[in-house]
Parts: sequence; structure tokens; C-alpha cells
Amino acid sequence: MHKTEITNVLIIGCGGAGLRAAIEIKSRGLDVKVLGKRPKNDAHTVLAAGGINAAFGNLDKEDSWKQHFIDTYLEGYGINDPSQIEIMAKEAPDLVEEIDKWGANFEKLDNGKLDQRYFGAHKYRRTCYSGDFTGFSILQTLVKKANSLEIPIYDTHYVSDLLVKDGICFGAMSLDIISSERIVYLADAVILCTGGHTRLWKKSSSRKNENLGDGYHLALKAGCELVDMEMVQFHPSGIVLPEDLAGTLVTEAVRGEGGILYNKNRERFMINYDKERMELSTRDKVAMANYTEIFEGRGTPNGAVYLDISHKDKEFILRKIPRVYRLFLETQLLDISKEPMEVAPTAHYSMGGILVNSIDHVTSVKGLYAAGEVAGGLHGANRLGGNSLAEILIFGKRAGIASVNYSNSLTSHIRSQEVILKAHQNINKFINNGKELPLTLQHNLRNIMWEYCGVVKNHQLLSRGLKKIRAIKNKLNNLDVRIDKHSSQDLICALDLESAVISSEATIISAIERKESIGAHQRNDNIKNDSESRFNVVVKINKDNSLSISKKPIKKLVKELSDLILNQKREFSIKNKLLE
Ligand code: FUM
Repeated sequence: MHKTEITNVLIIGCGGAGLRAAIEIKSRGLDVKVLGKRPKNDAHTVLAAGGINAAFGNLDKEDSWKQHFIDTYLEGYGINDPSQIEIMAKEAPDLVEEIDKWGANFEKLDNGKLDQRYFGAHKYRRTCYSGDFTGFSILQTLVKKANSLEIPIYDTHYVSDLLVKDGICFGAMSLDIISSERIVYLADAVILCTGGHTRLWKKSSSRKNENLGDGYHLALKAGCELVDMEMVQFHPSGIVLPEDLAGTLVTEAVRGEGGILYNKNRERFMINYDKERMELSTRDKVAMANYTEIFEGRGTPNGAVYLDISHKDKEFILRKIPRVYRLFLETQLLDISKEPMEVAPTAHYSMGGILVNSIDHVTSVKGLYAAGEVAGGLHGANRLGGNSLAEILIFGKRAGIASVNYSNSLTSHIRSQEVILKAHQNINKFINNGKELPLTLQHNLRNIMWEYCGVVKNHQLLSRGLKKIRAIKNKLNNLDVRIDKHSSQDLICALDLESAVISSEATIISAIERKESIGAHQRNDNIKNDSESRFNVVVKINKDNSLSISKKPIKKLVKELSDLILNQKREFSIKNKLLE
């Protein structure tokens, strides 16, 4: 009924976090296997295009890890985990240098140091980059390094369940997408690096089959909690045409390199939203500005605003943002060195995620770790562009080290045939000639999330959306899932659909719970109540597949860090509120 494989550490997800973890584990002498459901060279990592943050101060000498901490904490509206931010801000320079030396080959200054560009809401130029393909450079480098260490990466494997007995994780059930073969991986430790859930919105920077919330569902079923799932980042600039590509990312590097936004009346509207930082304001503010201009009728006939870099020299554009140049040429025959682009908000990044320990990213389940976008806590209510690539390297490595130490400490191994049998049943329950087509329901779900849980929300919209998502949930036991010799696509789609439903439900109930607009969570029925915003929202799953929600107090700043924030001269209305 299944094949069995054994390894010390199993990694689920072959994006940047997963590969960085695997490299650490293998370098420390343990056996590691990486499973992914999409081609290993094409994870969502490649869509963090514009750069990776590290406070080198190569151009702006005043920069420091402390300033990186301050910018990240304040722009996350203080509901993020200060310890995770401190670790990221301190460790980013070493890991950025390391990946550059391994072959990422970032852009250099004449003095040989790494070049650094502006990104939104960073006080200084802090973002290291390779043109507008930084995530791509990093991912290719990690794949090469993993290959050189002979790390097995199986990128046609879909994981349907984690194997957990008495609160201890001992592996995973997986399906080979091509052959439909089931493989039970027995492991001392498992690291989830499965990405987020932004493909659940109709307009998304994620591609087909990625970021469908499967990591969240796996974690919930294993006994983990999810934190702040309502915090979904809408990137200000996704393409709007052609329609089937709507949402594809136009990197923030365009604005970082001088791109300006204007509406159909040729007004540079950012002046009305953030006079000081203009186009380099935070993602939440620029996304809201673009949304508002379009919503209030000042957008283009295609439902967009203009993003213009045509005032820059063509050679400069080709050097700094070659992929954006190609994207518009190939999809719209538009030469962006001559004409403006049309852009609109797109679902880009899940800032909430699995609740993890700040230091080593272990979850509440023993032997189970989570790193990268699937983990929660670092970004809070608003992520700074460029922090996600730093996050995957730093916490991928840390989770790798922690899993090695844990594996080495084990004196016996837990196993359970009953748990494995249950994992089989969880797959078998979908093989049925029911009435509902999983693909159609998946399509409907994306429309529901866009319409009822989009850039701007309110109680009424969210409640209606929840009802619709639950109606899809009720159809899960009546799916039409065909298995044939050459394809398990229906089955994978059904499993993905269940994860999508649970992740959407977790997101909507969290959004209902947080009544005040904060960061990326924008409500037009904003119920202002200061004490209400100072919490994290936590979701758990119950035995009957229903979800429960609770609030948790935010993590307090230790004195050294709270002094840092208080000493900041910048005026943030939220500052005093957070430190009361
Ligand atoms: O716009 C971008 O290049 C995205 C970067 C990020 O999400 O970190």
C-alpha cells in the first residue's frame, strides 16, 4: 500500500527556506530529504524579486542592525515578535555575504562591496540585489549547493499528512504526483517550509499550484496553532493585463529605482497618502493608496493606476529591472522605457502563519519545525519588502541546526501504524465519484476570497464570505475524484481544496476577530479601540474539523529594544500606544 523511506530530517517544501535548512543539516553530517510539489527551480522565492535586506551601511554609513530592527518592528505595528526581528536584523549581513559568495553574485559597488537600493519604508538603503531577480539568484544558488552536497530533492511529491503520535512528529505521508505511489517518510524531525496561502485570492502574485495553504492545514492537523492569519499582504503593484496573468508581480524595485505612481488625471497621488515617503512608503499604505484611487474612480479604464519609470534612461532600466521590462514587452508589447505600466494591488505574502518559538522555529509539536513564509511572527501587520529573503536564509538555517540537535538527542523513535493508517484514510476519503468538481470549487474559492476578504474588509463582507467558504467545506465529502494510471491530479486538487478551505476559514475568522484597521488589515467599518489592537489572533483545529479562535497578548519588548524604539526621532502615532 505504501513504500517506506527513512531519514534523519525531512523537509517539506523546496523553496529557499527548505533548501537552506537542508544544506545546514547535510553539512552537519545528518541524512536529509527534501520534498516539494513544484519544480525545485521555481519556488515562490523567485517572486521576492527586488532584493534582500542586510544593514551593511555600504552606502548609508548610519545604518545598523538596530535601525533595521526599528524599521521592521514599527512597520509591523508592534504585533510582531521582537526576538525574531532582533535575530534577523543581527544575522542578515553574515548570511547575505555567505549566499553571495556561494554564487548569488549580487550587484557590487566600485569598491567591491554590495550595492544597496532603497526599498519602501527602510530608513536607509539596505536592500542588496541582483537586478530584479534576487530571489531567483538565491534559489538557483541554493539548488546548486544542495546538488553539490548530494541532497535528494523530490519535487513531484505532495505531502498529505504529518505523522504525529502523542505530540511527537515522526514523519509524513506523501504521494508521488506522477505515479500516485504513496510513500511514508519516517524521520526524527520534520521542517515545514511550504510557503503561504496567497494563491487563494483571485489576483495573486503566486503561480498555479503554489501557496494554497497546505502547510497551514498540515500544521493544524498535527496540533499546531496559527497566528495572525488575517495579516495578508497586498503588494501595491501587480499587472492587470492580460487578465489570465492579472496579479503577476511588478517588483517594488521599480519604485526603489525612482518609479512614480499617478492616476488617470496625471496626479502624483502618493502626496495625499504619505507626503514624506511618497512611492517609498510602506506596502500597506501604497497598496491602500492604489486601491483607493481605483475604487474612487481615478484609476485607468482597465482598473489600475500608472507606474512610470520612463523618465529613466533605457540602459538604466535594463540594468536595474530587466525582468519587468521583459514582462511588459512579452505580455503587452509595451516598452516601459517609453510608456507607463498599469498596476493594481495583488495578494502577495502571508504574514501570519504557524506559531513557532522565536529562536529555533520549533512548533508546539515535538520534532516539528516551520521556517519561511509558512511561519508566523516576524512581520506582524505589515512586512517590509526584502525581509522575506533574509528570513528564509536565517530561519531556514536555524531550524536546520535545531533539527540536527534534536535528532542527535533522540534515544528512541516513536512510530505508530494507527497514525499511518489514518493518513491513508485521509487520502482515501476523497476517492469518490461525487457530484462536485474540485477544480471548480477551487476557482470559486479564489473569487470569494478576493471579493469578501480583499484589500478592504468589513464585518458584513467577512461574514458573507465565511458562509460561502463553509458551503464549500460542506461539499468536500461529495467530490468527483478520478484516479487513473497516469494522473493523480484530481486527488491532489481535492487535498489542496481541503487545505484551501481550512486556511481561508482561518483567515476570515481571524479577520472578523480583529476589528480595528492595522497595517495590511484594513476595514472600512474600523472600530477604533486601542486596547483591542494589542493582541495576536490564534487559530486551532478541533477534532470535528471546526476551528477555534482566541486572542493572545503580544510579546513585550525587552528594555534594550524598547529604549531603541523610544529613542527614535521619527513620528509614528502608534509608537506611544505600543509602549504604554
Ligand atoms: O517587490 C518585490 O520585489 C518583492 C519583494 C519582497 O516581497 O520581499
